[in-house]
Amino acid sequence: MYKILSYLLLFAFFSIGYPEPLKRGDPKQELEEYIENKKAEINPRYRLQYHVIPPVGWMNDPNGFSYYKGQYHLFYQFYPYDSVWGPMHWGHVTSPNLVDWTQQPTALLPEEEMCFSGSAVVDEDTMVLIYTGRLIINVEPFYNETQYLAFSDDGINFEKYEGNPVLTRAPNGSPDFRDPKVWKHGDYWYVVIGSKTEDERGRVLLYRSLDLISWDFLTVLGESSGTMGYMWECPDFFELNGRYVLLMSPQGLEPQGDRYKNTHQTGYIIGNFNYETFEFVPEVDFQEIDFGHDFYATQTSEHNGKRILIAWFGMWEVPHPEDVDGWAGAMTIFRELEMVGDRILMKPVEQMLTLREENVFSGTWSNEVLEFQKTGEIVFNGDLDNVIEILIEGKEGGDQVWIKWDPQTGKVSVNRSGEVRQVEWLPIDSRSWRLFIDSSSLELFCGEGEVVFSTRAYPNGDWKVTNLSPQILSVEAYKLRRSVPE
Ligand SMILES: *[C@@H]1O[C@H](CO)[C@@H](O)[C@H](O)[C@H]1NC(C)=O
Ligand SMILES: *[C@@H]1O[C@H](CO)[C@@H](O)[C@H](O)[C@H]1NC(C)=O
Repeated sequence: MYKILSYLLLFAFFSIGYPEPLKRGDPKQELEEYIENKKAEINPRYRLQYHVIPPVGWMNDPNGFSYYKGQYHLFYQFYPYDSVWGPMHWGHVTSPNLVDWTQQPTALLPEEEMCFSGSAVVDEDTMVLIYTGRLIINVEPFYNETQYLAFSDDGINFEKYEGNPVLTRAPNGSPDFRDPKVWKHGDYWYVVIGSKTEDERGRVLLYRSLDLISWDFLTVLGESSGTMGYMWECPDFFELNGRYVLLMSPQGLEPQGDRYKNTHQTGYIIGNFNYETFEFVPEVDFQEIDFGHDFYATQTSEHNGKRILIAWFGMWEVPHPEDVDGWAGAMTIFRELEMVGDRILMKPVEQMLTLREENVFSGTWSNEVLEFQKTGEIVFNGDLDNVIEILIEGKEGGDQVWIKWDPQTGKVSVNRSGEVRQVEWLPIDSRSWRLFIDSSSLELFCGEGEVVFSTRAYPNGDWKVTNLSPQILSVEAYKLRRSVPE
């Protein structure tokens, strides 16, 4: 869901209608056949091998990340008919373990409403999706966002609720009213919804319900004082190691030095919360949760006491070079969250270890070039009193990415062909680096996950990785196996 883009596309929809396939018979069946046929046309060169990607077409926000009947479920904003944003569907994948993913039939198709972002909960034996239905209307601002429900008894086939919409209006009447994230506490369901004030300050609204259908507005959980952006998208609210976290994706932050250099940001405010008064008292200012070039619209889910995060491995208003290949967009790898001091640490889920297929290099690393095909995991260590610098590039050209530790500034930087993202790194304990590369992406985890960068990068041919540091590093490098459909 994206405001400016929608404005631009709005008039196109009015005048020429959506590009849709012929409607013969069952639209869901037609769509699956379309996807199956269209897959044959995709150019595989940049297809990621262990990240969730769309079978064809466009992907953005993760939705409905949940656990139901023995499987993890992940849905995503999906437009099957082109590799650019269009009227939103919910794509769907499932996994027993957060690394091996199976494609499922598209869960929600747009009808009167586009199916914008939302979440999923399990109510007794039923899986319930709660999403924003966006209607195009003919008065300003030409869209209307309300909250819809859909139900499933098998986690595969979804029926939209006949009484939709169930939540129709922000208390101030703002038309921006989207991305419901629902959880249960005691007898009540709670939901946070992204919105804004009349004077364009991002805010998050809190409601509760006994039945997911009838909702009472409780409070404004958080709000920009004026410097924190015009819209807060994709809010999430949860307890982590005894503290409360408001995680969201604010739009419109001004760049400040190294910070907020992407089109839009994702980060969190740590605070205290009381379920009696519904008051969230911020204790630590907003911090970005990932420092890479392509990371937005996070969603978390808790299962077995672990809080797991997933994000769109993408960004608005930047090139998506795979779009000419018939697809665009991806998910990051899944990360486990932990609160230490006043920050959240992000680590790859432990099941990522099961992707290691072959140890391709082990021992001391001076200036050898490590070669990979499409995938790799490189764990390395060096002396932080000295510079560390690694170059990741295509064997036949394309993007070049320099990863660097500078002991003078205490910063880690990721420089993708001249676009630099950097941040200070204060290791808690481990000084190890863990770098994941896939066909057109890299994810760097420093230490215990104090600092993480997620960046798409597009090599020509396979990858090669060179140690440019003025020191010898120790390294373990692995080839990773495929764990998502081709
Ligand atoms: C938006 O949709 C809701 C629910 O259908 C309706 O009550 C409301 O009047 C609509 N708002 C506008 C501006 O059309
Ligand atoms: C980033 O990389 C470019 C080469 O693409 C180089 O010219 C530039 O100096 C680098 N910037 C930093 C801060 O390292």
